[in-house]
Amino acid sequence: MEENQSLWRYKERILQCLILVYAWETVSAQIHYSIPEEMQKGSFVGNIAKDLGTEGKQLSDHGLRIVPTIGKLQYFSLNANNGHLLTSERIDREAICGEAEKCILPLQVMVESKRKLYGIEVEITDINDNAPHFPPGEQEVKINEISPQGSRFPLPEAQDQDLGMNSVQSYQLTGSSHFSLDVKKGENGARRVELVLEKVLDREEQSVYDLTLTATDGGDPVQTGTTQIQVIVLDANDNAPVFSQPLYAFTIEENISKGSTIGRVRAVDRDEGIYGELRYSFKKATKKDSQMFFFNATTGTITVIGDVDFEISSSYEFEVQAEDYGGLFDRAKVEITVTDLNDNAPELAVSFLTNSINENSPTGTVIAILNVEDRDSGINGEISCLISQILPFQLKKSIGNFYSLVTVDALDREQMEAYNITVTATDHGTPSRSTSLIIPLQVLDTNDNPPLFHQSSYVSYLLENNQRGASIFSLKADDPDWGENSNIKYYIIQGQIGDFPLSSFLSINSETGIIYALSSFDYEELQEIHFQVKAQDGGSPPLSSNITVTVFILDQNDNAPEILYPSVPTDGSTGIELAPRSSEPGYLVTKVVAVDADSGQNAWLSYQLLKATEPGLFTIGLHTGEIRTARPFLDKDALKQSLVVLVKDSGHPPLSASVTVTVVLANSIPEVLTDLSSISTPADPQSDLTFYLVVAVAFVSCLFFTFLLVLLALRLRRWKNSQFCDSGSLNFTGVPVSQFVGIDGVRAFLHSYCQGVSLTTDSRKSQFNISKADYSSTLKNQLAGDIKDPVNTTDDLNLNSGDLIIVQVS
Ligand SMILES: *[C@@H]1O[C@H](CO)[C@@H](O)[C@H](O)[C@H]1NC(C)=O
Ligand SMILES: *[C@@H]1O[C@H](CO)[C@@H](O)[C@H](O)[C@H]1NC(C)=O
Ligand SMILES: *[C@@H]1O[C@H](CO)[C@@H](O)[C@H](O)[C@H]1NC(C)=O
Ligand SMILES: *[C@@H]1O[C@H](CO)[C@@H](O)[C@H](O)[C@H]1NC(C)=O
Repeated sequence: MEENQSLWRYKERILQCLILVYAWETVSAQIHYSIPEEMQKGSFVGNIAKDLGTEGKQLSDHGLRIVPTIGKLQYFSLNANNGHLLTSERIDREAICGEAEKCILPLQVMVESKRKLYGIEVEITDINDNAPHFPPGEQEVKINEISPQGSRFPLPEAQDQDLGMNSVQSYQLTGSSHFSLDVKKGENGARRVELVLEKVLDREEQSVYDLTLTATDGGDPVQTGTTQIQVIVLDANDNAPVFSQPLYAFTIEENISKGSTIGRVRAVDRDEGIYGELRYSFKKATKKDSQMFFFNATTGTITVIGDVDFEISSSYEFEVQAEDYGGLFDRAKVEITVTDLNDNAPELAVSFLTNSINENSPTGTVIAILNVEDRDSGINGEISCLISQILPFQLKKSIGNFYSLVTVDALDREQMEAYNITVTATDHGTPSRSTSLIIPLQVLDTNDNPPLFHQSSYVSYLLENNQRGASIFSLKADDPDWGENSNIKYYIIQGQIGDFPLSSFLSINSETGIIYALSSFDYEELQEIHFQVKAQDGGSPPLSSNITVTVFILDQNDNAPEILYPSVPTDGSTGIELAPRSSEPGYLVTKVVAVDADSGQNAWLSYQLLKATEPGLFTIGLHTGEIRTARPFLDKDALKQSLVVLVKDSGHPPLSASVTVTVVLANSIPEVLTDLSSISTPADPQSDLTFYLVVAVAFVSCLFFTFLLVLLALRLRRWKNSQFCDSGSLNFTGVPVSQFVGIDGVRAFLHSYCQGVSLTTDSRKSQFNISKADYSSTLKNQLAGDIKDPVNTTDDLNLNSGDLIIVQVS
């Protein structure tokens, strides 16, 4: 049912349409108006009434009206009074028809009176009401700088809604002479606008161009539209890096520390981006260079990474390269000069060295040869070499940097046996550096010093009667030499004491220098021994020196005084001294003569009256032994006076001897004889005087002969003794008589006494004679008996000899 209804309606519609078409055709005449667009609202379009022929009396009666179209805007209105068609809206052709060439707005007008529909066409004509316009915003065109001339780049086109001449007719480009514009008409009348590159671009010169594109339409008035076009020149790697300098020269000191920056190389690349980004690298650099320097690839900074040493390399030279990421590069040279610093001390090397030298080496003997080097150069490597101390050595420059250390003075081991020679090498840099070397040198000994005794001579004293083998004293010598050269041995230089070799009396310990007595000495035989001792070292050849030694034998009081006069009579009778009765007090009666074999104090005799017949009558000189009268004789004094004289020496303890002296108080011999005869055997002195004188003369003569005989006997006896002494017994016959002080005393006595007596008057001749005779006999006894070793020669007995100066009795 329903389907049938809709179908029905559909049929009805089609019918209605057919009716209309028919009616339209019946109207047949179409009314056409044309108006420009954009007319004001209410603008007159046309007089429909007139055109429809419905003018008349009452237009409104006709019922003229516009039939509205469903869903469409009514652009027109009809004035029913006058039948004028007016615009009821502003009409924009572009809005209604777009780009259609003809824009017709149809409308139906009904005339009710006639019940007729009339179609009316209103053509809207274009006016230039739109300006050309470009897409909004700035337009960007990117062009690579290496694009060739004539390259084309599309530009945006301008739009203009207007039609025909009112639409875009032309374009213009301003802003740069690098570009031109080319406009092409397309098939459908559209224009294509292209930018043509007229000149080659260089980004580095100008990277951006601002252009203005103007589009113009053909309307009246002309309308234009513009847009800004920015041409961006794209970079191409058209620039190579360039170093700021072709050669970079740096100077560094050799003590530069690791990590220090030396400097920087710099290159520029005018490109941008990666084409302007540079990497630096070594080129033509040896391993040596690259181990010494580090090259920061990004900054071009050169840093020290090794130990710079002028002595190893004084300069470095290499090439560096700067490269961009487009593969373009530049190279530059780098020269690094190392300046020398005094960083090396001189070096001392010993090429030859002797550690010891003989002290007698001649000057100029080479001890060492030194080689001096300094690794620095120039003044830093100039060296002077010297010995710091003042020593007998000198450094002599020989070839090159060699020095020889030589002696310049004589060496003496005894003064300096070793040296530490400090050799210093100093360079001339500032601050200067130096090196020292100690050369030890031993001075070897040569036997250049003889042994020296501590004293220039030795004197020693030895008490007589010493023990055999007793050490007397010791002497010592020193030898400053060393070792065997100072090993001293002592010897006694052979000599003689009398006829006997010295070695039989003395010996020396050759090591210690102690001198021993081999025999017991007797002062009375030997007072002093002179000999020489030699000290000899063990060098080769040996050196020696000798010295004189004197041993004085000291006296001991071992001899008692011996009374020579008056002698102790052997026959029992005693000597008689005469003293005239008329003697004055102080008259010299006689003199007691005594000797002591000892010497000095031990032989210093003193005389004393021990006993006297008449005490006080005589005095005796304490030291002279002279017996003198103390007072005049008195008659009561006995004729014969007996005096006991004690002779004592001054030794400790003293030894003494005594003698009895008989003094007869008489004026003359006859008187004595008379007196004596009156006492014992009386005689006539007067008649016998001549006789006595003759006897005396004869006696003296006899005495002289006897003396000669005695001498002869002594000679014989000595000869016999010497035979005997050969078998070891002591005999000092060789010793000069002068050494026997005891004998000296005798001789002195004889000398002085005889002289004294010879000066007396003739009247005392007889006394002298008697004295002389007695003395002679006493001497004879002495020589024959007591003195074991008589005098050697008769010369020695010369009583007047000047040698005899030692006076025992003072
Ligand atoms: C290098 O030596 C110079 C001169 O001797 C001195 O002034 C400087 O301080 C030294 N430099 C270094 C890093 O030791
Ligand atoms: C090079 O120098 C730059 C700037 O000082 C630094 O950042 C970089 O680490 C250095 N490169 C090398 C490898 O040391
Ligand atoms: C030399 O030097 C050494 C070692 O220092 C020392 O033992 C010696 O005593 C020195 N000699 C001299 C003579 O100075
Ligand atoms: C002892 O020395 C002296 C000089 O000092 C010399 O003249 C003499 O010949 C030497 N005697 C001996 C035996 O060597």
